[in-house]
Amino acid sequence: MCGIVGYIGKKQAFDVVINGLQRLEYRGYDSAGLVLIQNETFLMKKTKGKVSDLREISQDLDKTAQMGIGHTRWATHGVPNDVNSHPHLSNSGELVIVHNGIIENYSAIKTMLTEKGYHFVSDTDTEVLVNLIEFMQKSSNLSITDAVRFALNEVIGAYAICVVDKKEADKIVVGRLGSPLAIGMGKDEFYIASDASPFVEFTKEAVYLDDGEMATITKEGVDVRKIADNLQVEPLVQQLQFDLDQIEKGGYDHFMLKEIFEQPKSILDTMRGRLLSSEGKIKMAGIFDHRNRILKSNRIIIIACGTSWHAGLIGEYLIEELARIPVEVEYASEFRYRNPVIYPTDIVIAISQSGETADSLAAIKMAKEAGAFIYGICNVVGSSIARISDAGSYTHAGPEIGVASTKAFTAQVTVLTMIALELGKQTGELSNEKFHKHLVEMEMLPKQVETVLKLDKEIQEIALAYKDATNCLYLGRGYNFPVALEGALKLKEISYIHAEGYPAAEMKHGPIALIDENLPVVIIATKGHYEKVVSNVQEIKSRKGKVIAIVNPGDTEVRAIADHCIEVPAVEEFLSPIINTIPLQLLSYYLAVLRGANVDQPRNLAKSVTVE
Ligand code: F6R
Repeated sequence: MCGIVGYIGKKQAFDVVINGLQRLEYRGYDSAGLVLIQNETFLMKKTKGKVSDLREISQDLDKTAQMGIGHTRWATHGVPNDVNSHPHLSNSGELVIVHNGIIENYSAIKTMLTEKGYHFVSDTDTEVLVNLIEFMQKSSNLSITDAVRFALNEVIGAYAICVVDKKEADKIVVGRLGSPLAIGMGKDEFYIASDASPFVEFTKEAVYLDDGEMATITKEGVDVRKIADNLQVEPLVQQLQFDLDQIEKGGYDHFMLKEIFEQPKSILDTMRGRLLSSEGKIKMAGIFDHRNRILKSNRIIIIACGTSWHAGLIGEYLIEELARIPVEVEYASEFRYRNPVIYPTDIVIAISQSGETADSLAAIKMAKEAGAFIYGICNVVGSSIARISDAGSYTHAGPEIGVASTKAFTAQVTVLTMIALELGKQTGELSNEKFHKHLVEMEMLPKQVETVLKLDKEIQEIALAYKDATNCLYLGRGYNFPVALEGALKLKEISYIHAEGYPAAEMKHGPIALIDENLPVVIIATKGHYEKVVSNVQEIKSRKGKVIAIVNPGDTEVRAIADHCIEVPAVEEFLSPIINTIPLQLLSYYLAVLRGANVDQPRNLAKSVTVE
């Protein structure tokens, strides 16, 4: 949700800021803007549209400045237009700000400032914040750092901000609460960004501000303080664990396609050093170190949003089947607001690719306050959820840039499968022999995923037949019901074809009314509940629905009646969600491309949902 970038140092700031914004565009892309700071003047450009539009209108800009801040927006307050785009100036024109987040009490502050004679040109909460900073500064004669600190102590909501004052044009003041902010540490130069991708090519050292921290950044250094009491904080410098090539398209048309094709590697990376079949072991320190607490708990609650929630549902099936521990799966946004019963003995598994999703974060905080043990499964190293968790396992999927989650999902399911197997061993539900057999089967996943990816062309052709569809139904049973949900979500978010995922058996309780010759039904008909799914396929065909079935080699019954079959390797049922998800990702991808949709930046979506 909005990306912010800043630079202070010896390079031309324009290039760092504009290229950084391009990398952060996955966070929001309805408008973009930047300001260069030189000789106590602001050179500002902003526009509705993409970073490429900003680049275009910046052609005439004097680009010699060595300091600048920029923003790519996902609108919350005010429609996307030039005026609402960031940066925003204060009334005097002396302060400038970029902001990611929401100031919840902006309306009361705006009223107060209006009474003091302030006026506003945009509809944004951000313009209110920059004027609050100015008001504080002018009324108490404060430095920009103190004024930002005083103002941030007045606001309620979430923010990551960069502020510059013309009168102190040798510094950028930043602050964070609820929205991520990283500082790239160079030599006599510093980078600021919502994540490290804009500066990973320049430095491998980063400081991630914690919630409630701010920093004053000059060419000489970074001074980090607590916003509440101005206490100085020793910044923790972390080493970045990814390279530039991991966040570039590498010859693929879209990040999404690249990330789909990366799955053999991302699954392998997620299992590496953990799934040790030759030793008959799963080595996950987070689980092993806390096994007593986990095994003593009466239940596990899985909290997540969107695609990560689908991974959570698969986690429920896995843990209940393999370890016989009861699991509940909750949408974070519902859980946090419905006054749930949480016991101090509960284990909460929080799943999040970004590790920054506002609802997931809030739900975790609530569970933590109630005494539950939090186990985080995140992809982004050092993210808020990873840091707030008591223990956890990273999915080593690497940076995921495409807004539609693909490799992070299969990595999440990979982690959950290993957890379920390990817990199954610990609870004694899995004999040594069975456990070992499952490890060997699981180890084969990356190769099997490679086989599925070879179906790329075939799936592209199937997509051609359905590119004008307006609705689509996805059905699956057991482990593959969440896969159906995920397939439907992928399709709707990138192709804008309306799609629903259903448990196959539920079809009779409603969705069957939709079936006619215009409704494509994607059905997962691999082994496990096979006979029952065959009946569902017959029911669809007898109502003239079009069937695209995911099947295993040797299938004859579904093949005889389905319109299209996509044949994937046969695996044990508990491993099938990973295999069966891949063709659905490809199908969505090709349908979206054929419809001319912007696959990597679907309308209205943002990768990291840091507002509730
Ligand atoms: C869908 C998608 C979203 C995210 C959701 C949670 O493709 O990406 O549904 O899964 O916004 O995000 P994380 O996993 O970052 O908490």
